[in-house]
Amino acid sequence: MTDQAAELRNLVRLTDQKKNNRTPAPGKMRIITIASGKGGVGKSNIVVNLAIMLAQREQKVIIFDADMGLANVDVLLGLIPRYTLWEVIKGEKTLKEVLLEGPGGIKIIPGGSGIHELANIDNYQRQCLVHQLRGMGEKTNFLLIDTGGGISRNVLGFMTAAEEVVIVLTPEPTSLTDAYGVIKVLSRLGLHSKIGLIVNRASNSREANSTVQRIERVVQRFLGMKTEYLGYICDDRLVSQAVKKQEPFCLLYPRSTAARCLGNVASTILEAGKLEREPSFSADKFVNRLLRLFT
Ligand SMILES: Nc1ncnc2c1ncn2[C@@H]1O[C@H](COP(=O)(O)OP(=O)(O)O)[C@@H](O)[C@H]1O
Ligand SMILES: [Mg+2]
Repeated sequence: MTDQAAELRNLVRLTDQKKNNRTPAPGKMRIITIASGKGGVGKSNIVVNLAIMLAQREQKVIIFDADMGLANVDVLLGLIPRYTLWEVIKGEKTLKEVLLEGPGGIKIIPGGSGIHELANIDNYQRQCLVHQLRGMGEKTNFLLIDTGGGISRNVLGFMTAAEEVVIVLTPEPTSLTDAYGVIKVLSRLGLHSKIGLIVNRASNSREANSTVQRIERVVQRFLGMKTEYLGYICDDRLVSQAVKKQEPFCLLYPRSTAARCLGNVASTILEAGKLEREPSFSADKFVNRLLRLFT
């Protein structure tokens, strides 16, 4: 074979790989748990719209709705789940069968009452879950886990199970102290060296920056932990307009301030992954860590 032929072949191979760049290398799924000190700071809206914006950047994204209080994600998207994780644990459905198709190519696993059931899982059910998650991890770039507010046992479970944790906070002083409380609990567990921060409902970048500076200072000083500022989202009335219409704001109002802000956050999250992380997804590790706090 001539050098030129080999070169051409390589070129074709490279183009093929580019075409397939929606499929990640095996075991490279990034799991990010999104949490907050208290409810109502905008987590579910951020998770849904972030998922869509990552999908627009050629990523395969699954949302895991782990908020068993009010299943938010499906309501935000106007979807009605027929089955949830509950049926998966009972062995009546596969993970694939309970997946909901969301807009923009995203998929959703409704946790529902299955989240409660994680506390009673037996060894066989655990193995089934690991097996199915492993299969899913091979075809997915991001698993975004939406949680309820606060630090209940199940929220802690999802935080410790994920390699990456992102805390959403607003510039309000109470949100700052609540967020600090969650980070403090995480620092005691000592599993994460760095916590991501997103400031929601900021008036502008200056206000978001000062919010982040304030929390960074105390977290570094008193907890010895690092934070990674992933960006902010402006307070934008179009967000609640979209909620009322049960459509994601990034699709309904793609030119809104909130959508542009979140676009920057999506890019930052993608870049951060490229630059410094070497995510390796282990379904075993994920499920073990998750269940440790449940059972
Ligand atoms: N950036 C924003 N600008 C304006 N309103 C927002 C913004 N983010 C969230 N909201 C409002 O806050 C409400 C609660 O958001 P949600 O995502 O359900 O919070 P959480 O999941 O943290 O409980 C939304 O219904 C919306 O009206
Ligand atoms: Mg929510």
